[in-house]
Amino acid sequence: MIRIVKIETKDTYAIRKEVLRKNIPLPFMFNGDDAIDTFHLGAFKKDKLIAVSSYMKVENKNFKGNQYQLRGMATLENFQGLGAGKLMLIEAFKILKELNIECFWCNARLIAVKFYEKQGLSTFGEKFDVKLIGEHYVMYKYLNE
Ligand SMILES: CC(C)(COP(=O)(O)OP(=O)(O)OC[C@H]1O[C@@H](n2cnc3c(N)ncnc32)[C@H](O)[C@@H]1OP(=O)(O)O)[C@@H](O)C(=O)NCCC(=O)NCCS
Repeated sequence: MIRIVKIETKDTYAIRKEVLRKNIPLPFMFNGDDAIDTFHLGAFKKDKLIAVSSYMKVENKNFKGNQYQLRGMATLENFQGLGAGKLMLIEAFKILKELNIECFWCNARLIAVKFYEKQGLSTFGEKFDVKLIGEHYVMYKYLNE
């Protein structure tokens, strides 16, 4: 069974480093990590943290209403496909609806687009390149739809 709980900023670092920053010399600490509106979710299998994700109150001018941006979504390779990512997003959507947030968005790596589509997100606009990481799409979901 996988449990989703709020975690501290520092608890996200090891998995961010391993999954999102392997051979990529970019920071694993993000602007806004410790902002008052930011929260982080972790997925635990037994007592092991297997996935992390972060949620920040950042607006994208392409979208309407109160918004949150997803950052640092990552599941340890050996634990991918078990539902951890999906369960974190379900919990995030619940928390964000309680906060009256209308739009949820992220910059999605191409390899993750299908995963986000399965959770109801859509792509917006053209593909774009993020230096050292690769191609991305902006993806979004209006939470009241
Ligand atoms: C993308 C990622 C976060 C998904 O997390 P996960 O815990 O493996 O995903 P889940 O097990 O919750 O998957 C939920 C569903 O999406 C599907 N899915 C997951 N990753 C997928 C992918 N890359 N392509 C297609 N489908 C995918 C699963 O098969 C599952 O489908 P189902 O509900 O029909 O069974 C994870 O693969 C990962 O960390 N990848 C490397 C880092 C990365 O790219 N992060 C995103 C940066 S934007």
